[in-house]
Amino acid sequence: MSPPKKITVVVSGSGSNLQALIDAANTSRLPNVQFVRVLSDRKDAFGLQRAGKADIQTKVHSIVPYKHLPDTLEDVASSPRRKAYDADLAKMILQDQPDIVIFAGFMRIVTPSFLAPLAKAGVPIINLHPSLHGDLVGAHCIEDAWEEFRQGRREKTGVMVHYVIEEVDLGEPILQREVLIEGCGSLDELKQKIHATEHPTLVEATRLVLERQCT
Ligand code: GRF
Repeated sequence: MSPPKKITVVVSGSGSNLQALIDAANTSRLPNVQFVRVLSDRKDAFGLQRAGKADIQTKVHSIVPYKHLPDTLEDVASSPRRKAYDADLAKMILQDQPDIVIFAGFMRIVTPSFLAPLAKAGVPIINLHPSLHGDLVGAHCIEDAWEEFRQGRREKTGVMVHYVIEEVDLGEPILQREVLIEGCGSLDELKQKIHATEHPTLVEATRLVLERQCT
């Protein structure tokens, strides 16, 4: 058998999607994999505890030590703070020589300072996003979809796993699943429905990307 594919997961929060990956690892849904590290920008991310429980190495890469550098909100790619943070994130990740990097609820925008070294090393980066491709972007997609549904302007939303590029949430989709909003009585119910769709979608998309590397 070929050596296990090495996975790095990056999280910012609860890590329920990380958990889905951990639970599926080395079953027929996600065969022959090894988690090399879980990274987070937040030391209080519950995902780090999930990783610890599964005996996966963790690391916190906080933005705080970079706060003395100027930040540019309008032009994220040229922000000295983000450039430095992202370059170090790339270095940390590449030290583990992963075969894939998975953003599973990583709530930061990445710049070419991160993307270029990973591309040079040939390591794909995939991201989970709670909307269909080209529909809603940004950090509040579930809330936005719910609001439009309440106003009678929307019936469905979805989830997507896509390759990460500089344009936020717009990289080539690997897998998408529609989520009908009808039947959800509250924003919380919609969130639950979306998360329940995300978990198997992320596992399947990860398997697809790793299979592509084998062919
Ligand atoms: C997911 O809804 C994902 O789509 C979004 O952040 C959330 C992460 O959830 N980007 P969890 O931390 O995996 O529970």
